[in-house]
Amino acid sequence: MKNVYILTFLLCAWLAGSCQQEKFDSDNSIPVIPAVSGSLSEAPFPFGAAVNISPLNSSDRYKEILRSDMSRVTAENAMKMNNISKGHKQYDFTEADKIVQFAIDNGLEVHGHTLLWYKHTPSWVSNFEGSREQWIAIMKEYIQDVVGHFKGKVVSWDVINEVINDDGEVYIKDGDKYNIWLDKIGEEYISLAFKYAHEADPNALLFYNEYGHEYSSQRRMGVNNLVKELKEKNIPIHGVGMQMHTNINRSTSDLRNAIMIMAASTRLKIHVSELDIAVNPSSNKELELTDELLEKQQIHYREVAKAMNDLPADQQFGITFWGVCDSNSWLYANPDWPLPYDDTYAKKPAYEGLLQGFKVSY
Ligand code: XIL
Repeated sequence: MKNVYILTFLLCAWLAGSCQQEKFDSDNSIPVIPAVSGSLSEAPFPFGAAVNISPLNSSDRYKEILRSDMSRVTAENAMKMNNISKGHKQYDFTEADKIVQFAIDNGLEVHGHTLLWYKHTPSWVSNFEGSREQWIAIMKEYIQDVVGHFKGKVVSWDVINEVINDDGEVYIKDGDKYNIWLDKIGEEYISLAFKYAHEADPNALLFYNEYGHEYSSQRRMGVNNLVKELKEKNIPIHGVGMQMHTNINRSTSDLRNAIMIMAASTRLKIHVSELDIAVNPSSNKELELTDELLEKQQIHYREVAKAMNDLPADQQFGITFWGVCDSNSWLYANPDWPLPYDDTYAKKPAYEGLLQGFKVSY
């Protein structure tokens, strides 16, 4: 009788183990997902990419990918204040207009990045001297001129970029993150910026864009508090941008949890706004790209796409990559290969990971 128990026990253990093996890899944590094919354009939410004028001018493949896989573009640098604002009431929209025109000609939406950031401040603003009211006036004028210029063409804006630091409460004012708007106007500049942007284009969706949600719960809390405060004051805010410049050493559950928690706590639209997944976060100059690194990167891309896929439909603003192919990436010189296309514009395993994230239920 005892032997029957032992045999039954062993049989059950073996069955459980073999079932387990079908679904999970050797460390029992990463599900094994079937191979899939297709295009990012089949996703139930938009994919987009940050674009720059030089590959847009020089590479047909770059343009083809934007047309075939993406439904949205963000200007990587062309809409930052120092690139647009050349003096009081003096604007240079040349590059930004070219990007917007490309998008319109190809049926792509444009997400505007970014109205105010402590970085990329033009020198005339850094040197400006005036009362608080005069600072508010130049801020209002800039926001309304720019949003007005792109009215009806730019669908959504990052109104404010990066004002909350890692401990989640103190807005950045000093040191290398000196924020001139915060210094001259105070924290009210945030709500005023949203208000002015909304006045200039009431149809535009307005976002607060931030990094680090995936590694700092305090920063998430800070973003959540800011959103709450703006809502309480009836300031129009429609979404949160989660930059997600991350890497393969971050756990995939950190990525998923950040997205799920932001969505549940704010109830706003969620834009994974600057996604790249570095394989060389310590910038080791000798590192070579291996299949193992590519596979880890695939899993990370998959989990981000799955998290976006799992959100309620009205919160799925989508995923924007910070570049199209590896050689476009701001991290390429590290060296790094953080995007879903390699430097010949061929699809990497990461691309299949993204497809798995929205096509496979697991
Ligand atoms: C980066 C661009 O990719 C670089 O080309 C530029 O030199 C500096 O800015 N967070 C942001 C983006 O909101 O605007 C930054 O883009 C990356 C970090």
